[in-house]
Amino acid sequence: MKNTLVAYFSAEGTTAEIAKRIAAAADADIFEVKPKEPYSAADINWKNPLSRCNKEKIGKKDVPVEGEIEGFENYRTFFIGFPIWYYGAPNVIQTFMKGYDWSGKRIILFATSGGSDIGKTVSKLRPYVKGDARIIEAKVFKSDVSDDELKSFAEGLVK
Ligand SMILES: Cc1cc2nc3c(=O)[nH]c(=O)nc-3n(C[C@H](O)[C@H](O)[C@H](O)COP(=O)(O)O)c2cc1C
Repeated sequence: MKNTLVAYFSAEGTTAEIAKRIAAAADADIFEVKPKEPYSAADINWKNPLSRCNKEKIGKKDVPVEGEIEGFENYRTFFIGFPIWYYGAPNVIQTFMKGYDWSGKRIILFATSGGSDIGKTVSKLRPYVKGDARIIEAKVFKSDVSDDELKSFAEGLVK
């Protein structure tokens, strides 16, 4: 078992690709944050005011997560990845964060987006992070980010 974990949610595959590359660069284990009820294409159509993603966002709804991290207590550093949804982390990541006590853990957030930068993602997510964890970095990557950039990002943060 490693002491670094990459945990990610990805609805359309972009963040999943980056997560796998970060896990390789950081020599980390990997955990996919999957909603118990998977998202269909219609569910994530933010252009439809009545779509699931819009209802979850407006209703500040919890999105239950499938399974849990095995051996959570053994990990020290967590890279947590997601697509930017509505200028922040998706609700399923908020629910995921609420499920663990992050005291003493080192947290690095990474994201992909359609163009938004990280913005207020950290301060918006903070209330869902139990414990005195340090969020030490937060960064949005483009899908065409180079291996070199991911490697220097990951290596500089793993301790
Ligand atoms: C519900 C929803 C909300 C989104 N909100 C934003 C946003 O606020 N800013 C942005 O740049 N992109 C937004 N996007 C685009 C995604 O962040 C982008 O396509 C991301 O790379 C998808 O990652 P994934 O393939 O891992 O799901 C949104 C996408 C969806 C489905």
